[in-house]
Amino acid sequence: MLAAVTDAVVPVAGLGTRLAPLTRALPKELLPVGRTPVVGHVVEELAAAGVERVCFVTRRGKGAILDHFDDPDPGHAISFLAVRQAVQRGLGDAVLCAEGTVTGPFVVALGDAVLSAAGGAPAGIVARLGAAFAAHDAVAAIAVEAVPPEAISRYGVVAPRAEAAGGVLLLEDLVEKPDPADAPSRWAIAARYVLSPAIFGALRTTAPGTGGEVQLTDAIRALLHAGGTVVAVPLAPGERRHDVGSPASYARAFLDLALDDPELGPELRAHLVARLRDGG
Ligand code: UTP
Repeated sequence: MLAAVTDAVVPVAGLGTRLAPLTRALPKELLPVGRTPVVGHVVEELAAAGVERVCFVTRRGKGAILDHFDDPDPGHAISFLAVRQAVQRGLGDAVLCAEGTVTGPFVVALGDAVLSAAGGAPAGIVARLGAAFAAHDAVAAIAVEAVPPEAISRYGVVAPRAEAAGGVLLLEDLVEKPDPADAPSRWAIAARYVLSPAIFGALRTTAPGTGGEVQLTDAIRALLHAGGTVVAVPLAPGERRHDVGSPASYARAFLDLALDDPELGPELRAHLVARLRDGG
């Protein structure tokens, strides 16, 4: 059995402008999704994958995220620390802020995206990323989900060159937010990564790209073009990504996970069925 990746970096320093005014005083990562804040779901998923240390990349006004995990009886063995991102220069820059807190391969899990399995249990994708990373001696393993062509330009997208055992995709390229006509595949990057510490050197020399932000995708691309192996692992059947990014995706995330919750689900389902039957 392969050893689990035990360090995770969880960026939570973004501005959350798309969710304003909800995020005027409240970090979006603490918005409730069912009975748990977004980032609580993320940590449950990491604990289930064997992660033992979580480093939040945070900023001014987001101290409540660490407060949330001051639980004397947390039900897992994770220890938490935080580093600050002073200026919001993008996801790649946020990951670079955590350099010095990890010693080996580490997970990056976006703090505003929940990955669930059938029935609402935590998805198993992080453990599969760790296994693919080790099996292919990779510099990066990236979670991907199939998205329809009209949505592809909102995501980082991977270009596979071959498929290995277990459906793992070997990549020849990846690109951030392509035009639909230029998208190299339907595989969108899905909020979870396992990365080699070599990423920090690549991030330091990555110029701001799409949106004026330092893109993690560009730094992984640099490692790939320097000869490193980069693999992508598709979400399994039943695994789903729930993004708390826009009001519409937040509403869907709350409904989906509340419906899957054994305590909330049955009554909510009956309420929705009655409401829709009465004409919405
Ligand atoms: P988003 O791309 O959703 O950006 O971040 P955002 O700033 O949070 O939201 P909008 O676009 O203004 O509405 C994805 C994840 O990366 C983190 C966010 O906190 C979120 O968990 N992030 C993003 C950072 O930590 N730092 C950044 O500079 C950007």
